Amino acid sequence: MSRIVVTGGAGRLGRSLVAGLAARGHEVVSFDRDTSAAPELDGVEQVAIDLSDADTTASALRDARADALVHLAAIAVPFSAPEDVILRTNSGLAASVLGGGVTAGIPKIVAASSPTVLGYGAPAGWVPERFPLDEETTPRPWNAYGLSKLVIEQSIRMLQRQTGDAVRYAAFRPCYVIAPEEWAGAVTQQGHTVRERLDDPALSAPAVFNYVDARDVAAFTDRLLEALPGIPNAETFFVSADDALARLPLAELVPRFFPGTEEAASVLTGTAPAFSNAKAKRLLGWTPAHDWRTELARIDTRTDVTA
Ligand SMILES: NC(=O)c1ccc[n+]([C@@H]2O[C@H](COP(=O)([O-])OP(=O)(O)OC[C@H]3O[C@@H](n4cnc5c(N)ncnc54)[C@H](O)[C@@H]3O)[C@@H](O)[C@H]2O)c1
Repeated sequence: MSRIVVTGGAGRLGRSLVAGLAARGHEVVSFDRDTSAAPELDGVEQVAIDLSDADTTASALRDARADALVHLAAIAVPFSAPEDVILRTNSGLAASVLGGGVTAGIPKIVAASSPTVLGYGAPAGWVPERFPLDEETTPRPWNAYGLSKLVIEQSIRMLQRQTGDAVRYAAFRPCYVIAPEEWAGAVTQQGHTVRERLDDPALSAPAVFNYVDARDVAAFTDRLLEALPGIPNAETFFVSADDALARLPLAELVPRFFPGTEEAASVLTGTAPAFSNAKAKRLLGWTPAHDWRTELARIDTRTDVTA
């Protein structure tokens, strides 16, 4: 059992992550501007804090006496605030939280980045060197959100150059996170249900049809924290489902929304996703346990039973 601080623990992904880590026997503390009455946070210690204040953050992290720090707090949606605010906020939080974690002597520090660092959806076009996209794909962020996430990944590497391996780090890029209540029909981050995203490919195309179940992100994070001492330091990982959030093969859908990708996308046959989770499988032994077909079938069966 570890004592783990999760920043942004009251947020969409944070709540599932806190619940998942607590269910695995860890003592979890949520650091967030807001405290939350969500059931996932029942019995969880919550610290209300503005993490943009570096001194307050470093001292609160010192007081927390944590074995690990998972940094999620951010402006989490591109263009949900002016570009300068997103860049300043997310980069500033990386400095105050990750730097504060080092100052506080926390030995394991991980941070949420985002697949958007790759730059898909750029108005001037986007043709990746190949599919599936993986950790070797060149990041080409085209907005402040994607750029701020690259800053977070680089902050991790910067700190590792300062501390060496006395502190173990990683960054992870969760794909479009779907929480358990969203399988049951609650709206997802962009304001549509999962079924709407499947029925209208234009809704999932902006994320290149990527997704991951929030419980799988919790399992991934638990495994990552456990594995950190034994894997190369300051690595980056995609956290993705094994399939695409689409009813048709991506070899057909991707070129429809990303002109010029016909040849590269031709390998995405069957249910293959655009994003590879092979590195997390190989280095961490993690594998996602949830996929949309099974989750929606389970909901349908439950509806039939109660009808
Ligand atoms: N949800 C996804 O699909 C997804 C995908 C990729 C990456 N991510 C990343 O995962 C992380 C969490 O995303 P989310 O969807 O849960 O976002 P969210 O907006 O639901 O949660 C973010 C949390 O951070 C907190 N926060 C922001 N600024 C703060 C500050 N100055 N001080 C204290 N707390 C502050 C907010 O109060 C909020 O609870 C983010 O870093 C996001 O970029 C999310």
